[in-house]
Amino acid sequence: MKSILPPAIAAYSLLATSTLAQVVKRQQGSLPPITTQGNAFYNGNERFYMRGVAYQPGGAANAADPLLDMGSLRRDVEQFRNLGINTIRIYTIDNSQNHDEAMQMLDEAGIYLALDANTPGYSLNRESLASLHASYNNVYMQSVFATVDAFAGYNNLLLFFSGNEVINARNNTNAAPYIKAVTRDMKQYIAAQADRQIPVGYSAADVAENIEPQALYFACGEDEMARADFFAFNDYSWCDPSSFTESGWNVKVQTYSDYSLPIFLSEFGCITGTRAWNEIEVLYSENMTSVYSGGLAYEYTFEPNGYGLVEVNSNGEVVPNDDFDRLQQAYERTPNPSGDGGARTDTSPPECPPTSDEWDVDTVNLPVIPEDARQYITDGAGTGPGLVPGETSQWAGTPSETEPDLSNGVTVSESPANGTTGGSGGRGGGAQSDNNSTAGGNNTAGTASESGADYLGADTFVVLTILGLAASILL
Ligand SMILES: *[C@@H]1O[C@H](CO)[C@@H](O)[C@H](O)[C@H]1NC(C)=O
Ligand SMILES: *[C@@H]1O[C@H](CO)[C@@H](O)[C@H](O)[C@H]1NC(C)=O
Ligand SMILES: *[C@@H]1O[C@H](CO)[C@@H](O)[C@H](O)[C@H]1NC(C)=O
Ligand SMILES: *[C@@H]1O[C@H](CO)[C@@H](O)[C@H](O)[C@H]1NC(C)=O
Ligand SMILES: *[C@@H]1O[C@H](CO)[C@@H](O)[C@H](O)[C@H]1NC(C)=O
Ligand SMILES: *[C@@H]1O[C@H](CO)[C@@H](O)[C@H](O)[C@H]1NC(C)=O
Repeated sequence: MKSILPPAIAAYSLLATSTLAQVVKRQQGSLPPITTQGNAFYNGNERFYMRGVAYQPGGAANAADPLLDMGSLRRDVEQFRNLGINTIRIYTIDNSQNHDEAMQMLDEAGIYLALDANTPGYSLNRESLASLHASYNNVYMQSVFATVDAFAGYNNLLLFFSGNEVINARNNTNAAPYIKAVTRDMKQYIAAQADRQIPVGYSAADVAENIEPQALYFACGEDEMARADFFAFNDYSWCDPSSFTESGWNVKVQTYSDYSLPIFLSEFGCITGTRAWNEIEVLYSENMTSVYSGGLAYEYTFEPNGYGLVEVNSNGEVVPNDDFDRLQQAYERTPNPSGDGGARTDTSPPECPPTSDEWDVDTVNLPVIPEDARQYITDGAGTGPGLVPGETSQWAGTPSETEPDLSNGVTVSESPANGTTGGSGGRGGGAQSDNNSTAGGNNTAGTASESGADYLGADTFVVLTILGLAASILL
C-alpha cells in the first residue's frame, strides 16, 4: 500500500526572519509540512490522515530519547515501512541534543513526528492547585520552548502536544486553564520564532464525565492564540470483538459532528481481547472521517504494560508479533476515503463549556505567561535542559504572577470573565507518571498559529492585561 519514497533530498532553505532577535533557521526535509484547515489536516490540497504508532521504546518511566539511538531507529524505521504507517508519536525527547540524522531518516521513510513537548521532569504538576501554579513557571516554559526550537526546523515535524492526560480524573479539571495557557504560550512562541505554523494541541484522557467539556474548552474563546489547533484523545473504548456501534464510536462521531478543530486518536488499541484491529477499517471509513483524521496505535515496542507490536530480543533484533501482523494487514486493506472524506473547512469556535459538577472551571481567564518567560518569545529560548535524571522544573523558577484562583487572571487572550486552575499527566500506553504531567506516553501537547508575527511585546502584553482587568471590573 505504502509507496516507497525516493531517497530524500534534504531541502535546505534559509528563510528571512522578521526580527533581529531571531536566529536564522533552516527548514529541512523533503516531506511537505502538514497544515490544518477547518476540522482536518492537509498535505498540500490533499487531506492528511494519521496512520501511526506510539514510539517510546523502554516506556515513559525511564524515558530515553529514541531519536538519538541511530542503530535502533534504523532497525525500527524498517518496521515502520513494513507496517505502512506515516506517523510516529514520541513522548519524550532530549531537547539539548541535535536530531538532524534521525529526522532525516524518518523523512526518507515518509514518516512524520507527532511530538510531546513535556518530559517527566519538565511538566505541569496536577497534584493540587498550588502545585499546578508553581509548576507553570519560567524554567518549565524554557524547556518547552527549547523543544519547539529543536524540532520546528524539520518539515516532517507534524505537530506538538502541549500536554498529555493532565486531566485524568473527575477531580482535576482545574488543570484546564494551565494546559490552555501552555498551549497559548507555545503558539505565541512558534509565531514569533518558527518559520512556519506548526499545529499545537492537547492529548486528552478519555474521561467519560469531562472529555466533552475539555474538547470545547480547548477550542473556545475569543483569542485565536489561546485556541488549540486540534484536539486529540487516547481512546481505548474499542475492545475486540467490536464494531462502529458496539464501541460507541458512532455516538462520538455525532458528538463532535460540529466541532471546529481536527480530531484524532492520540492513542488507541485496547488489549482486553485479541487485537484484530478491525477498528482500522472503521476509523478510515467515511463513517468517521468527517470528524476524525486517523490515529496512533499504542504502541510499538512490547512493554510490561502488555501493549506492543514488536519484541526486542537479546541480540537487539526486533521480532514483530501477531499484533503487528494483524495491524499491518488492516492498514494494507484499508485505503483512505477518496476526496475530502467529509471534512468541513468553514468551522467556527464553539461556546466555552458552562461550569458543572463535572467541569470545575468557572472562568475563561488564563494565567498570564510567567514574567521571566516572556523574554524567550522575543529572544529565543536557548538550549534546553535535556533529560537529566532527578532534575525537575516543577518547583523551580518563578510562576505566573496570576493568582492560582485566576481572580486576577484576565489576559488579552480571553474575554473578561473568571477562571480556575489546571495540571497535566497521561495514560496511554507509555508510562503513567504519578502526579506529574509528562512524556513517556502519558502527557504532552502542541499548537499552530494563524497569524505569523503578531506577538505583542511584553510591555504591551502587561498593558493589555491591565486593560483586560479593568474591563472585567467594569463589567
Ligand atoms: C514529580 O513531581 C514531584 C514533586 O511533586 C517530584 O519530586 C518528582 O521528581 C517528579 N517526578 C518526575 C518523574 O519528574
Ligand atoms: C482525586 O480523586 C482521587 C481518587 O479518585 C484521589 O486519590 C485524589 O487525591 C483526588 N485528588 C484531589 C486533588 O482531590
Ligand atoms: C458505517 O455505519 C453503518 C451504519 O451504522 C454501518 O452499517 C456500517 O457497517 C459502518 N461501516 C463501517 C466500515 O463500520
Ligand atoms: C470575577 O472575579 C472578580 C474578581 O475576583 C469577582 O469580583 C467577580 O465577582 C467574578 N465574577 C464572576 C462572574 O464570577
Ligand atoms: C501511561 O499510562 C499507562 C496506562 O495507564 C501506564 O501503564 C503507563 O505506565 C503510563 N506511562 C507513563 C509514562 O506514565
Ligand atoms: C500523588 O499525590 C497524592 C496526593 O498528594 C499522593 O498521596 C501520592 O503519593 C502522589 N503520588 C506520587 C507517585 O507521588
